[in-house]
Amino acid sequence: MRLLIAHATVVVSGTKIAEEIGTGRSEVWRLVQQLRDLGVDIAGHPSTGYSLKSMPDLLLPDMLAPQLQGTIFGKHIHHYYKIGSTNTVAMEAASADAPEGSVFLAEQQTAGRGRGANQWHSARSVGIYCSVLLRPALPPSDVLVLTLAAGLAVHSAIQEIDSRVVPDLKWPNDVLIGGKKVCGILTEMNAEVTRVRYVVVGIGLNVNQSSFPADLEAIATSLRLATGTEWSRVELSVALLKSLDREYRNLLEDPDAAASILRRFQERSSSVRGQRVEVVENPELEGVTEGLDSRGFLQVRTAQGLRTVLSGTVKPR
Ligand code: BTN
Repeated sequence: MRLLIAHATVVVSGTKIAEEIGTGRSEVWRLVQQLRDLGVDIAGHPSTGYSLKSMPDLLLPDMLAPQLQGTIFGKHIHHYYKIGSTNTVAMEAASADAPEGSVFLAEQQTAGRGRGANQWHSARSVGIYCSVLLRPALPPSDVLVLTLAAGLAVHSAIQEIDSRVVPDLKWPNDVLIGGKKVCGILTEMNAEVTRVRYVVVGIGLNVNQSSFPADLEAIATSLRLATGTEWSRVELSVALLKSLDREYRNLLEDPDAAASILRRFQERSSSVRGQRVEVVENPELEGVTEGLDSRGFLQVRTAQGLRTVLSGTVKPR
Protein backbone atom coordinates (compact mmCIF):
# COMPACT_ATOMS: atom_id res chain seq x y z
CA MET A 1 0.00 0.00 0.00
CA ARG A 2 2.80 2.38 0.95
CA LEU A 3 4.50 1.91 -2.43
CA LEU A 4 1.29 2.36 -4.40
CA ILE A 5 0.42 5.52 -2.47
CA ALA A 6 3.93 6.96 -2.96
CA HIS A 7 3.51 6.46 -6.74
CA ALA A 8 -0.16 7.30 -6.81
CA THR A 9 -0.32 8.63 -10.38
CA VAL A 10 1.88 6.08 -12.18
CA VAL A 11 1.94 2.39 -12.96
CA VAL A 12 4.46 0.58 -10.78
CA SER A 13 5.85 -2.63 -12.25
CA GLY A 14 5.44 -5.87 -10.36
CA THR A 15 9.23 -6.30 -10.52
CA LYS A 16 9.84 -2.94 -8.83
CA ILE A 17 7.33 -3.66 -6.07
CA ALA A 18 8.87 -7.13 -5.62
CA GLU A 19 12.37 -5.65 -5.33
CA GLU A 20 11.33 -2.93 -2.92
CA ILE A 21 9.53 -5.23 -0.53
CA GLY A 22 12.04 -8.06 -0.97
CA THR A 23 9.84 -10.73 -2.45
CA GLY A 24 8.91 -12.34 -5.79
CA ARG A 25 6.39 -11.19 -8.41
CA SER A 26 3.95 -13.98 -7.66
CA GLU A 27 3.87 -12.88 -4.01
CA VAL A 28 3.21 -9.30 -5.20
CA TRP A 29 0.28 -10.62 -7.25
CA ARG A 30 -1.03 -12.44 -4.18
CA LEU A 31 -0.73 -9.27 -2.05
CA VAL A 32 -2.46 -7.16 -4.70
CA GLN A 33 -5.32 -9.66 -4.79
CA GLN A 34 -5.51 -9.51 -1.02
CA LEU A 35 -5.72 -5.70 -1.07
CA ARG A 36 -8.43 -5.87 -3.75
CA ASP A 37 -10.38 -8.31 -1.58
CA LEU A 38 -10.09 -5.73 1.20
CA GLY A 39 -11.67 -3.10 -1.03
CA VAL A 40 -8.61 -1.26 -2.39
CA ASP A 41 -9.16 -0.18 -6.00
CA ILE A 42 -6.02 -1.33 -7.89
CA ALA A 43 -5.70 -1.45 -11.68
CA GLY A 44 -3.26 -3.64 -13.65
CA HIS A 45 -1.81 -7.11 -13.63
CA PRO A 46 1.61 -8.84 -13.33
CA SER A 47 2.79 -8.15 -16.89
CA THR A 48 2.12 -4.39 -16.93
CA GLY A 49 2.30 -3.31 -13.33
CA TYR A 50 -0.13 -1.83 -10.85
CA SER A 51 -1.61 1.57 -10.02
CA LEU A 52 -4.17 2.89 -7.61
CA LYS A 53 -7.45 3.81 -9.34
CA SER A 54 -8.36 6.12 -6.47
CA MET A 55 -6.75 7.25 -3.27
CA PRO A 56 -8.08 4.83 -0.66
CA ASP A 57 -9.67 6.19 2.48
CA LEU A 58 -7.80 3.69 4.63
CA LEU A 59 -6.78 4.51 8.20
CA LEU A 60 -3.12 3.78 7.52
CA PRO A 61 -0.43 5.02 9.91
CA ASP A 62 1.32 6.70 6.94
CA MET A 63 -1.80 8.78 6.29
CA LEU A 64 -2.50 9.65 9.93
CA ALA A 65 0.88 10.04 11.63
CA PRO A 66 2.07 13.19 9.79
CA GLN A 67 -1.17 14.95 10.72
CA LEU A 68 -0.95 13.86 14.36
CA GLN A 69 2.55 15.14 15.03
CA GLY A 70 2.73 16.98 18.32
CA THR A 71 -0.12 14.97 19.84
CA ILE A 72 0.29 11.92 22.07
CA PHE A 73 -1.26 9.83 19.29
CA GLY A 74 1.28 10.44 16.50
CA LYS A 75 3.97 7.89 17.29
CA HIS A 76 2.53 4.40 17.82
CA ILE A 77 -0.30 3.83 15.35
CA HIS A 78 -1.27 0.22 14.60
CA HIS A 79 -3.53 -0.59 11.68
CA TYR A 80 -5.32 -3.86 10.97
CA TYR A 81 -7.33 -4.75 7.89
CA LYS A 82 -9.27 -7.31 9.90
CA ILE A 83 -9.13 -8.00 13.63
CA GLY A 84 -11.40 -9.36 16.36
CA SER A 85 -11.60 -6.20 18.47
CA THR A 86 -9.30 -3.18 18.65
CA ASN A 87 -10.10 -2.90 22.38
CA THR A 88 -8.91 -6.45 22.93
CA VAL A 89 -5.59 -5.91 21.09
CA ALA A 90 -5.13 -2.58 22.89
CA MET A 91 -5.69 -4.19 26.32
CA GLU A 92 -3.24 -6.98 25.44
CA ALA A 93 -0.65 -4.49 24.19
CA ALA A 94 -1.13 -2.41 27.35
CA SER A 95 -0.41 -5.39 29.58
CA ALA A 96 2.75 -5.97 27.50
CA ASP A 97 3.89 -2.38 28.28
CA ALA A 98 2.84 -0.58 25.07
CA PRO A 99 3.35 3.17 25.52
CA GLU A 100 0.68 5.69 26.39
CA GLY A 101 -0.82 7.19 23.25
CA SER A 102 -0.72 3.93 21.26
CA VAL A 103 -3.58 3.86 18.76
CA PHE A 104 -5.20 0.71 17.34
CA LEU A 105 -7.34 1.08 14.24
CA ALA A 106 -9.12 -1.54 12.17
CA GLU A 107 -10.84 -1.49 8.80
CA GLN A 108 -13.06 -4.32 10.01
CA GLN A 109 -13.74 -6.03 13.35
CA THR A 110 -15.00 -9.59 13.49
CA ALA A 111 -15.79 -9.45 17.23
CA GLY A 112 -16.35 -5.73 17.89
CA ARG A 113 -17.50 -5.30 21.49
CA GLY A 114 -19.98 -2.89 23.00
CA ARG A 115 -20.90 -2.26 26.62
CA GLY A 116 -22.03 -5.29 28.61
CA ALA A 117 -22.53 -8.28 26.33
CA ASN A 118 -23.35 -6.16 23.29
CA GLN A 119 -21.59 -6.52 19.95
CA TRP A 120 -20.49 -3.62 17.78
CA HIS A 121 -21.40 -3.92 14.12
CA SER A 122 -18.07 -3.27 12.35
CA ALA A 123 -18.45 -3.61 8.58
CA ARG A 124 -15.36 -3.14 6.43
CA SER A 125 -13.98 0.36 5.85
CA VAL A 126 -17.24 2.20 6.49
CA GLY A 127 -16.76 3.02 10.17
CA ILE A 128 -13.96 4.17 12.44
CA TYR A 129 -13.03 1.40 14.89
CA CYS A 130 -10.37 2.93 17.08
CA SER A 131 -8.91 2.22 20.53
CA VAL A 132 -6.40 4.41 22.32
CA LEU A 133 -4.23 3.47 25.26
CA LEU A 134 -3.89 5.94 28.13
CA ARG A 135 -1.99 5.71 31.40
CA PRO A 136 -3.49 8.54 33.47
CA ALA A 137 -2.47 9.12 37.08
CA LEU A 138 -6.08 8.95 38.29
CA PRO A 139 -8.01 6.88 40.79
CA PRO A 140 -10.46 4.43 39.11
CA SER A 141 -13.41 6.50 40.37
CA ASP A 142 -12.30 9.41 38.14
CA VAL A 143 -12.06 7.44 34.90
CA LEU A 144 -15.65 8.08 33.84
CA VAL A 145 -14.63 11.60 32.86
CA LEU A 146 -12.40 10.10 30.13
CA THR A 147 -15.44 8.48 28.48
CA LEU A 148 -17.26 11.80 28.67
CA ALA A 149 -14.21 13.57 27.18
CA ALA A 150 -14.14 11.03 24.32
CA GLY A 151 -17.81 11.78 23.61
CA LEU A 152 -16.98 15.50 23.49
CA ALA A 153 -14.04 14.78 21.16
CA VAL A 154 -16.32 12.88 18.77
CA HIS A 155 -18.86 15.71 18.97
CA SER A 156 -16.33 18.39 18.12
CA ALA A 157 -14.63 16.34 15.36
CA ILE A 158 -17.99 15.92 13.59
CA GLN A 159 -18.81 19.61 13.99
CA GLU A 160 -15.35 20.68 12.82
CA ILE A 161 -15.96 18.89 9.52
CA ASP A 162 -19.63 19.76 9.09
CA SER A 163 -21.00 22.32 11.52
CA ARG A 164 -24.55 21.69 10.24
CA VAL A 165 -24.57 18.30 11.98
CA VAL A 166 -25.54 18.68 15.62
CA PRO A 167 -24.81 15.48 17.56
CA ASP A 168 -26.46 14.83 20.90
CA LEU A 169 -24.46 13.21 23.72
CA LYS A 170 -26.24 10.49 25.68
CA TRP A 171 -24.75 9.68 29.07
CA PRO A 172 -22.37 8.01 29.46
CA ASN A 173 -21.09 6.64 26.18
CA ASP A 174 -23.28 7.32 23.16
CA VAL A 175 -23.42 9.96 20.48
CA LEU A 176 -26.75 10.31 18.70
CA ILE A 177 -27.96 12.06 15.59
CA GLY A 178 -31.71 12.46 15.13
CA GLY A 179 -32.26 10.15 18.10
CA LYS A 180 -30.24 7.29 16.56
CA LYS A 181 -26.83 6.08 17.64
CA VAL A 182 -23.90 7.19 15.46
CA CYS A 183 -21.11 6.39 17.93
CA GLY A 184 -20.50 4.22 20.97
CA ILE A 185 -17.59 4.37 23.40
CA LEU A 186 -16.28 1.42 25.40
CA THR A 187 -13.80 2.36 28.12
CA GLU A 188 -11.98 -0.51 29.81
CA MET A 189 -9.28 -0.38 32.43
CA ASN A 190 -6.81 -2.29 34.52
CA ALA A 191 -6.50 -0.78 37.98
CA GLU A 192 -5.57 -1.20 41.60
CA VAL A 193 -8.20 0.04 44.03
CA THR A 194 -6.66 3.49 44.23
CA ARG A 195 -4.58 3.70 41.06
CA VAL A 196 -5.23 3.15 37.39
CA ARG A 197 -2.61 1.13 35.53
CA TYR A 198 -4.05 1.74 32.09
CA VAL A 199 -7.23 2.68 30.31
CA VAL A 200 -8.33 1.77 26.80
CA VAL A 201 -10.90 4.06 25.24
CA GLY A 202 -12.57 2.32 22.28
CA ILE A 203 -14.56 4.44 19.87
CA GLY A 204 -16.87 3.03 17.23
CA LEU A 205 -18.11 5.70 14.84
CA ASN A 206 -20.56 4.95 12.02
CA VAL A 207 -19.33 7.00 9.07
CA ASN A 208 -20.18 5.79 5.57
CA GLN A 209 -22.69 2.99 6.17
CA SER A 210 -25.54 3.29 3.69
CA SER A 211 -27.65 0.78 5.58
CA PHE A 212 -27.61 -1.37 8.72
CA PRO A 213 -28.80 -4.92 9.43
CA ALA A 214 -32.53 -5.11 10.14
CA ASP A 215 -32.07 -5.43 13.92
CA LEU A 216 -30.10 -2.14 14.06
CA GLU A 217 -31.99 -0.12 11.45
CA ALA A 218 -34.32 1.55 13.93
CA ILE A 219 -31.59 2.53 16.41
CA ALA A 220 -28.41 3.15 14.38
CA THR A 221 -27.39 5.81 11.91
CA SER A 222 -24.22 6.92 10.14
CA LEU A 223 -22.85 10.33 9.19
CA ARG A 224 -23.54 9.47 5.57
CA LEU A 225 -27.15 8.55 6.27
CA ALA A 226 -27.56 11.73 8.33
CA THR A 227 -26.03 14.08 5.73
CA GLY A 228 -26.40 12.32 2.37
CA THR A 229 -22.68 12.63 1.62
CA GLU A 230 -19.63 10.42 1.96
CA TRP A 231 -17.17 11.44 4.70
CA SER A 232 -13.39 11.05 4.72
CA ARG A 233 -12.58 8.62 7.51
CA VAL A 234 -8.96 9.80 7.49
CA GLU A 235 -9.96 13.46 7.99
CA LEU A 236 -12.46 12.52 10.69
CA SER A 237 -10.02 10.24 12.55
CA VAL A 238 -7.39 12.98 12.57
CA ALA A 239 -9.91 15.54 13.88
CA LEU A 240 -11.08 13.05 16.51
CA LEU A 241 -7.61 12.12 17.77
CA LYS A 242 -6.49 15.77 17.85
CA SER A 243 -9.55 16.71 19.83
CA LEU A 244 -9.10 13.79 22.24
CA ASP A 245 -5.45 14.76 22.68
CA ARG A 246 -6.51 18.30 23.68
CA GLU A 247 -9.12 17.05 26.14
CA TYR A 248 -6.74 14.52 27.69
CA ARG A 249 -3.79 16.86 28.08
CA ASN A 250 -6.00 19.53 29.61
CA LEU A 251 -7.35 16.97 32.03
CA LEU A 252 -3.86 16.09 33.22
CA GLU A 253 -2.55 19.65 33.34
CA ASP A 254 -5.46 21.86 34.37
CA PRO A 255 -7.25 21.30 37.69
CA ASP A 256 -10.40 22.92 36.23
CA ALA A 257 -10.51 20.69 33.13
CA ALA A 258 -12.76 17.98 34.61
CA ALA A 259 -15.36 20.60 35.56
CA SER A 260 -15.16 22.02 32.03
CA ILE A 261 -15.73 18.54 30.53
CA LEU A 262 -18.79 18.00 32.72
CA ARG A 263 -20.18 21.44 31.87
CA ARG A 264 -19.69 21.01 28.11
CA PHE A 265 -21.07 17.45 28.18
CA GLN A 266 -24.24 18.75 29.83
CA GLU A 267 -24.52 21.58 27.29
CA ARG A 268 -24.33 19.10 24.39
CA SER A 269 -26.73 16.55 25.83
CA SER A 270 -30.50 16.90 25.54
CA SER A 271 -31.15 14.08 28.02
CA VAL A 272 -28.84 14.72 30.95
CA ARG A 273 -31.36 17.10 32.52
CA GLY A 274 -35.14 17.00 32.65
CA GLN A 275 -35.64 13.64 30.97
CA ARG A 276 -37.80 10.89 32.49
CA VAL A 277 -35.69 7.73 32.52
CA GLU A 278 -35.38 4.25 33.94
CA VAL A 279 -32.14 2.49 34.71
CA VAL A 280 -32.46 -0.92 33.11
CA GLU A 281 -30.34 -3.14 35.37
CA ASN A 282 -31.88 -1.41 38.35
CA PRO A 283 -35.59 -1.45 37.54
CA GLU A 284 -36.74 0.24 40.71
CA LEU A 285 -34.76 3.32 39.73
CA GLU A 286 -36.99 5.58 37.74
CA GLY A 287 -37.21 9.35 37.67
CA VAL A 288 -36.13 12.55 35.99
CA THR A 289 -32.47 13.30 35.15
CA GLU A 290 -30.90 16.13 37.11
CA GLY A 291 -27.40 16.61 35.63
CA LEU A 292 -24.04 15.06 36.51
CA ASP A 293 -22.26 14.95 39.86
CA SER A 294 -18.66 16.14 40.29
CA ARG A 295 -17.26 12.83 38.94
CA GLY A 296 -19.60 12.66 35.96
CA PHE A 297 -22.21 10.23 37.33
CA LEU A 298 -25.81 10.84 36.33
CA GLN A 299 -28.20 12.07 38.96
CA VAL A 300 -31.85 11.10 38.85
CA ARG A 301 -34.65 12.59 40.96
CA THR A 302 -36.81 9.63 42.00
CA ALA A 303 -39.88 9.39 44.22
CA GLN A 304 -37.47 8.40 47.02
CA GLY A 305 -35.10 11.35 46.48
CA LEU A 306 -32.00 12.17 44.44
CA ARG A 307 -30.12 9.03 43.30
CA THR A 308 -26.74 8.69 41.57
CA VAL A 309 -26.51 6.19 38.70
CA LEU A 310 -23.25 4.29 39.10
CA SER A 311 -23.95 1.49 36.60
CA GLY A 312 -26.59 0.10 34.30
CA THR A 313 -28.17 1.36 31.12
CA VAL A 314 -30.26 4.49 31.14
CA LYS A 315 -33.33 4.44 28.92
CA PRO A 316 -35.88 7.15 28.28
CA ARG A 317 -39.37 6.32 29.65
C1 BTN B 1 -21.22 0.73 22.98
O1 BTN B 1 -21.94 1.58 22.48
O2 BTN B 1 -21.72 -0.22 23.62
C2 BTN B 1 -19.74 0.84 22.85
C3 BTN B 1 -19.27 0.45 21.47
C4 BTN B 1 -17.76 0.57 21.31
C5 BTN B 1 -17.28 0.05 19.96
C6 BTN B 1 -15.81 0.29 19.75
S1 BTN B 1 -15.30 -0.05 18.09
C7 BTN B 1 -13.64 0.12 18.56
C8 BTN B 1 -13.50 -0.56 19.91
N1 BTN B 1 -13.29 -1.98 19.75
C9 BTN B 1 -14.29 -2.70 20.24
O3 BTN B 1 -14.36 -3.94 20.22
N2 BTN B 1 -15.24 -1.88 20.75
C10 BTN B 1 -14.86 -0.49 20.62
